[in-house]
Amino acid sequence: MTIRIAPSILSADFANLERELGRIATADMVHVDVMDNHFVPNLTIGLPVVTRLQQVSPVPLDVHLMVSDADTNAPKYAETGAASVTFHIEAATDPVATAAAIRSNGARAAVAVKPGTDIAPVLDHLDAYDMVLLMTVEPGFGGQAFMPQVMPKLAAARAAVAASGLDVWLEVDGGIALDTVEEAVSNGADTLVAGSAVYGGDPAERIAGLRAAASRVA
Ligand code: DX5
Ligand code: ZN
Repeated sequence: MTIRIAPSILSADFANLERELGRIATADMVHVDVMDNHFVPNLTIGLPVVTRLQQVSPVPLDVHLMVSDADTNAPKYAETGAASVTFHIEAATDPVATAAAIRSNGARAAVAVKPGTDIAPVLDHLDAYDMVLLMTVEPGFGGQAFMPQVMPKLAAARAAVAASGLDVWLEVDGGIALDTVEEAVSNGADTLVAGSAVYGGDPAERIAGLRAAASRVA
């Protein structure tokens, strides 16, 4: 299984985002958390900033939208040239159509589920998605504790992907660090978001450490 590491710039210095992107050039993608203070109780950045990040980033953008009205908003982020756009199924009225709109704007289409959200509706339409994001914390903030109770859902998603024969990536986000990454990967995750665990130290060293730990069990 190919492992991808996607540091979250939510834990970076927001006054120096271009410099902070340069510190994670050995990552596979950069995870960009967009929050609207409505779907989640926190506010980060929006379309103009994501557009500039896309222009200066050394690695592809993995945009994670935690915003209401995903059907309208998600395709606009795909237009920035971001490699991947993830919207929450809880915020979408027609997730399959929204994923198709993301793809038609040139990005990989991904859907996210909160820790308590049933994944069955996603697995019923796996061909609509290029990646599924399983939140391992409640979305809204970095630095929270990993929720191991999500692991059975992750394992079920891995089994469904294997049975489908599709190359759908499975991403985990929240509390991923050296002490949790092996559990996530052994339950089927191949794409790992880490915010505080990467920017809490030397980013290149932290990325290498996470990649080594993940690769041991992949
Ligand atoms: C939380 C965000 C995460 C966050 C993860 O809502 O979606 O991407 O940055 O931060 P850590 O890795 O610190 O849990
Ligand atoms: Zn995120």
